[in-house]
Amino acid sequence: MGWIQIRGGTPLRGEVSIQGSKNAALPIMAASALVPGVTVLMNCPEISDVSCMCELLKCVGAKVSREGGRLVIDASRISQHRLPEEHVTRMRSSVILAGAMLGRCGEVFFQYPGGCVIGDRPIDLHLAALKKLGAVFTEDGGHLAARASRLEGARIVLDFPSVGATENAVLAAALAKGTTEIYRCAAEPEISALCDFLNGAGARIRGGGTAHITVEGVPRLHESQWRVEPDRIVAGTYLIGVLAAGGSARLLRAPARQLTEVLKVARRMGAEIAADREGISVERTGKLQSPGALETGVYPAIPTDLQSPLLVALCQAQGKSSLTERIFNGRLAVAEELNRMGAGIEVEGNCARMAGGSFLTGSSVTARELRGGAALVLAGLCAGGYSRVYNRRFIDRGYEDIVRDLKSLGADIGSET
Ligand code: UD1
Repeated sequence: MGWIQIRGGTPLRGEVSIQGSKNAALPIMAASALVPGVTVLMNCPEISDVSCMCELLKCVGAKVSREGGRLVIDASRISQHRLPEEHVTRMRSSVILAGAMLGRCGEVFFQYPGGCVIGDRPIDLHLAALKKLGAVFTEDGGHLAARASRLEGARIVLDFPSVGATENAVLAAALAKGTTEIYRCAAEPEISALCDFLNGAGARIRGGGTAHITVEGVPRLHESQWRVEPDRIVAGTYLIGVLAAGGSARLLRAPARQLTEVLKVARRMGAEIAADREGISVERTGKLQSPGALETGVYPAIPTDLQSPLLVALCQAQGKSSLTERIFNGRLAVAEELNRMGAGIEVEGNCARMAGGSFLTGSSVTARELRGGAALVLAGLCAGGYSRVYNRRFIDRGYEDIVRDLKSLGADIGSET
């Protein structure tokens, strides 16, 4: 059980370069299974979720090699349509391989996916979209088998703008016969990235990043190269770290345009922010002020993935705040660990309320999921004395090396694996 130890109470100062995006890299890796040749990805984050997707691709017959952030996936031969249970149950994003495998092989066999414990995470929208395209599912215990001799373009209206279901529908439609219209799509930047990647490999997709995507199926995709964009959630985490712990930092390559709502909140709480094409500079020297009532939502609202980090800043701000979670119903569970550090968060349903002005004290706490784990590390930066965050492996699913990054911002932090 690896841990991260932090001696808190010192403002952050320095510069950090933001890694490639997890949520952009994973669906693009899945998309590489549609290409009967080589896909080269640059700036691919070195995180355990990417390793897990590499393993999944290898298991279906792709050759995968990785050198730092350069990932080469040769999917000339896909020999297997069974996704191994061990990897599928470890990572929810494995479900997006279903659409790609159906598109490539006309069949796929997989287990209901796993992932972070942040509430109910059904896959009904994914399955409904794939069924519309002609896939026929059979279920046996926790296993699902899907078949389609040739997927056919269809009109798909998602009940909710699910990121994963939008990606799955786009992936399955890319090689389908005819045109697919997808409505109520998620508009997260990672969807635009997926559509742009696929278009670069010969697909014909319009409207990526909007609520209506049109996919004209093509017979075949070709080899291509792609640079993964910087991770807006990692950038947001470190920005909130500076907001919460105080200090001044330069976040190189942080995508300011994808963080508009978070930057607004940070400014309301007392941070000075300058953003340009090279990144974001953030400084907070005065007292933290409450921004009032906040809520997460679909893009471009405050991302649910930054809800837990934000709690750390809100509980210390002057005045009452609240944060309502609108996407995942179990994501406020981290409040319990934060309260062990003195956060004073009251959770009622999907809303966290805090009176503000809390002083955090160093404690031993346990990460139960990725973003909640990162929030505990941020709390450790703010707390007086030493904190230890156990279960580092959850944080490593999405952060290349949170210890390295926070050290470069001057934090007194170390770890043991
Ligand atoms: C993706 C992101 C995750 C982010 C989330 C919301 C990746 C790899 N992960 O997750 O970091 O927090 O978007 O921005 O990109 N839902 C259903 N049925 C479905 C699918 C989803 O009810 O079939 C519900 C979920 O339970 C949740 C909501 O829809 O309440 C949003 O989920 P979704 O957008 O699908 O998130 P993910 O794609 O899993």
